[in-house]
Amino acid sequence: MTRKLFVTTALPYANAPFHLGHIMEYIQADIWVRHQRMSGNEVHFVGADDAHGAPIMIAAEKAGLTPQAFVAGIAAGRKQYLDGFHIQFDNWHSTDGEENHALSQDIYRKLKAAGFITSKTIEQFYDPVKNMFLPDRYIKGECPKCGAKDQYGDSCEVCSAVYAPTEVVNPYSVLTGATPVMKSSEHFFFKLSDQQCVDFLRNWALQDNRLQSEVANKCREWLEGEDGLGDWDISRDAPYFGIEIPDQPGKYFYVWLDAPVGYLASLKNYFSKTGRDFDAFMADPSTEQIHFIGKDITYFHTLFWPAMLKFSGYKTPDNVYAHGFVTVSGEKMSKSRGTGISPLRYLDIGMNPEWLRYYFAAKLNAKVEDLDMNPEDFVARVNSDLIGKYINIASRAAGFITKRFNGVISTDWATADDAFLGNLRTAAPEIQALFEAREYGKALRLAMEQADLVNAYVDANKPWELAKKPENDAKLQEVCSRLLEAFRILTIFLKPVLPQLASQVEAQLNIAALQWSDVATPLPHLHTIHPYTHLMQRVDPKIFDQLFDAPTASAAPAATAATTEAATTTAAVTAATGAASDIEPVAAEINIADFAKIDLRIAKIVNCEHVEGSDKLLRLTLDVGEGRTRNVFSGIKSAYQPEQLIGKLTVMVANLAPRKMKFGMSEGMVLAASAADEKNNPGLYILEPWPGAQPGMRVG
Ligand code: 2FM
Ligand code: ZN
Repeated sequence: MTRKLFVTTALPYANAPFHLGHIMEYIQADIWVRHQRMSGNEVHFVGADDAHGAPIMIAAEKAGLTPQAFVAGIAAGRKQYLDGFHIQFDNWHSTDGEENHALSQDIYRKLKAAGFITSKTIEQFYDPVKNMFLPDRYIKGECPKCGAKDQYGDSCEVCSAVYAPTEVVNPYSVLTGATPVMKSSEHFFFKLSDQQCVDFLRNWALQDNRLQSEVANKCREWLEGEDGLGDWDISRDAPYFGIEIPDQPGKYFYVWLDAPVGYLASLKNYFSKTGRDFDAFMADPSTEQIHFIGKDITYFHTLFWPAMLKFSGYKTPDNVYAHGFVTVSGEKMSKSRGTGISPLRYLDIGMNPEWLRYYFAAKLNAKVEDLDMNPEDFVARVNSDLIGKYINIASRAAGFITKRFNGVISTDWATADDAFLGNLRTAAPEIQALFEAREYGKALRLAMEQADLVNAYVDANKPWELAKKPENDAKLQEVCSRLLEAFRILTIFLKPVLPQLASQVEAQLNIAALQWSDVATPLPHLHTIHPYTHLMQRVDPKIFDQLFDAPTASAAPAATAATTEAATTTAAVTAATGAASDIEPVAAEINIADFAKIDLRIAKIVNCEHVEGSDKLLRLTLDVGEGRTRNVFSGIKSAYQPEQLIGKLTVMVANLAPRKMKFGMSEGMVLAASAADEKNNPGLYILEPWPGAQPGMRVG
């Protein structure tokens, strides 16, 4: 029976480009979706940008844009990643779309009518300058445990203590530097503590293998823990970029209320564009709703989300599948340590997206485990397995068929489909079941075991030897034809993972798009294939140097141009003055890769203040577009008053290791010009970009 599947991945915040973790999740889901389509099932696979919330509102304001325009800019960048890694969403929408406003408000109204919404007045920190309530991450101050300065409002990076923002000593608002004040306001809550909720969630989460066992166990802890479930604060006060709460002027849904509703909104948007009936689809009991997510957001997806849907009368999710994080050579991805991998850089330097799809698939299983990407392992899997075991079968067989037999396959399958091809066909159901169970690593291992058997057949029959004697032609044609049939079956096994390669193979073999059911249907006798062209290159391990160290290719030419231009300018200055000036001698030459190690970014100075006890330093609060601010101490007090700098843009070294200074941590360095003989020529000039530059832009 054909299944009807509605599949989603977590909706990424629209304040930053995708990182490798996003791409891994999308590839995981995309493989599953492609496998379902190859099984003949109906699948609707949608995503969207998670557009709302305070960080996005603040980032937009800093960029001088409306939140809508800011989010649209991020959304415009999505396609190149999705297309680049062959991730085939049917639709990509936004949680700020009209469907989401309507659906979120509808869900809220129904929850309210069913008695699941309550309100109470709570006290929170408020920024009296900015006139807004401050989320914890926008409050900083001294750690109440160890006294370290400039720690976030919820935890200390120096001693790891966790605390409430109200415990922070000398708190200040990251946005304005002002001292926050306590202020009360009415908030709305979803009554998760209601016994009906708890009973429903226990059934939902712990039955039908809906969740992975690790996740189900976590849910049990949450449901049966001492405190039970608390009510969930779903409102935020204006100013907020979000969806207005019906009949409550100035109150908005907390971003996490409307974010998952965005799954439904994207589907609805897609259905309206393609003339399908959203309500009928969602009301159909046979529709399966499946969410792929990261392990950090299981709480939202296994408690809040199903409960919201249940008590507003909507369909509840059938499965939520959580995955772990991506680490690089055993370390958490971090730009400053050079262990971050930019997905765009990966594509820009010419790495094949299907290598990454294969590598991730080879390491993915159905558990909530982190996935480590390391170069040696990557090269081994791609070169030894994918190319060495699979691609080589085609390159060894197809050439002879083309050159010697005009591309004609000649095998009478009734007699030739012996144990070797029979085994291959018999392996299909198990591999298919492993894809179904998201055990991609095991599926690929089985596929490669089959490839080993095919290669053993190659070695036993040695087509290159047969080719030496014309009297062996019939045998050569048969051996190569059977190898191409074997290659066709292996291609079906790999197709969910390698869609582009599979489509190249389909074109070369001159056959229709392969489905799982085609395993049983061999290439027809006397079928003609197209001439063989090479399907995939090996990975050159040296390319990893570029992946880790170099900027994106799009940045590299710019950097080269800038260098050339600087050289020209120096020459021009020399010519004009008629003599070399008395500037500080230029430092030893570096190459472009050395330069590229320095990650220079446009930074906005959102706050600047004197540092008590220092006659050299100013404390800068910088926004580099990361959704957080950085604290940087800079020795520019002699040249600037803090108020001259607030609101200005400058250039900072963004990947300088943080330094602990007497007055706190310094998380980078701003660039300023000064003369060699500072004593006689004490001027200090902070760099400022031309109008139009935005915080976070790379300088190079
Ligand atoms: O953690 C995040 O990145 C969230 N933007 C995920 C939202 S998933 C869904 F609820 F929209
Ligand atoms: Zn501390």
